[in-house]
Amino acid sequence: MSQLFSPLEIRGTIFSNRVWVSPMCQYMAEDGLVGTWHQVHIGSWSTGAPGLIMLEATAVRPDGRISIGCPSINDEAHAQAFKPLVDFAHSYGVKVGIQLAHAGRKASTMRPWDDHRLAAKEDGGWQAISSSATAFEGYLVPREVSKDEIAELVQDFAAAAKRAVDVGIDVIEIHAAHGYLIHQFYSPLMNQRSDEYGGSFENRTRFLLEVATAVRKAIGESVPLFVRISATDWVEGGWNLIDSIEVSAKLKDLGVDLIDVSSGGAVHNAKIDAKPGFQVPFAAAIKTEAGIATGAVGLITEAEQAEHIVASGEADAVFLGRAMLRNPRWALEAAEKLGVRIDWPLPLDRGRTL
Ligand code: FNR
Repeated sequence: MSQLFSPLEIRGTIFSNRVWVSPMCQYMAEDGLVGTWHQVHIGSWSTGAPGLIMLEATAVRPDGRISIGCPSINDEAHAQAFKPLVDFAHSYGVKVGIQLAHAGRKASTMRPWDDHRLAAKEDGGWQAISSSATAFEGYLVPREVSKDEIAELVQDFAAAAKRAVDVGIDVIEIHAAHGYLIHQFYSPLMNQRSDEYGGSFENRTRFLLEVATAVRKAIGESVPLFVRISATDWVEGGWNLIDSIEVSAKLKDLGVDLIDVSSGGAVHNAKIDAKPGFQVPFAAAIKTEAGIATGAVGLITEAEQAEHIVASGEADAVFLGRAMLRNPRWALEAAEKLGVRIDWPLPLDRGRTL
């Protein structure tokens, strides 16, 4: 019996298996709108039988985009653009989540393959914001947000979540990892504030907890809510696993269902020993110590490895990133390797060997 290919139910939503697609920026939106590239690309995952596709970091307001090619969901038109790809995924029994984000001080870049990194005004760039007026290596100094603006940002996350649910998206994930805006508040390496949003653990995590509270209220009780965190900054004196366990327990009390456990992104020179499954122990510790479901991510590439993570109870699901870029039909092949017969989309059925 495969645990990886067993269904998982959260708040009445049933994921057909625990092979989930990790959120990955495509840099292919135009003015924040997703289009044909996304339909084809997300469509290819939709025909590969993952239990969930988590759509890329999508900004809750335009200045929250990482790059000029990132999507946003700041109004009805931007939300409606997701509908065809969501409907297509649903027609193949695949659930769709969206990762809601604000890039903060890491915003306003060009696409990675453009010839320069930061977007100037004439490229469509903008002034970035953050918890504090300190820059990430190689970026411009951001503007520190006021308390009034923090309150607006909390509502921007809530409104974006409601828009996503209204176009049929099944899961909301709050992006609180990788050195983006929410992480810029909770990590002591990035937050220099002296008001009630800076200083103590309680103050630094306030913005995240306010966002989680507002999003849960906006989407009601029936929609699964995930939070992606950086479990550690990988730097002495930075955010660490103990902090992550504590905040995860608080998020659980606020109605968050699953912690998607990543790491890093606060500083450019952190020493990270990235080897297969290197972040899985963080997911396991948070699951055990905070008593909340977790997703494991990071260099999970093999069927047996993914099966082991779920079967041993280290995490409830695995998120696959680059392996899914290489092979959008990863789940179909993994099921065959594990000897599990799952439903294939009928037009692909003759490709099966099992
Ligand atoms: C990413 N990653 C990422 N993470 C996230 O939380 N939101 C995002 O939008 C993105 N965007 C993104 C784009 C691309 C092209 C890559 C390769 C990665 C990180 C990703 O979700 C995952 O956590 C890492 O890639 C590690 O998992 P893998 O790739 O080792 O399975």
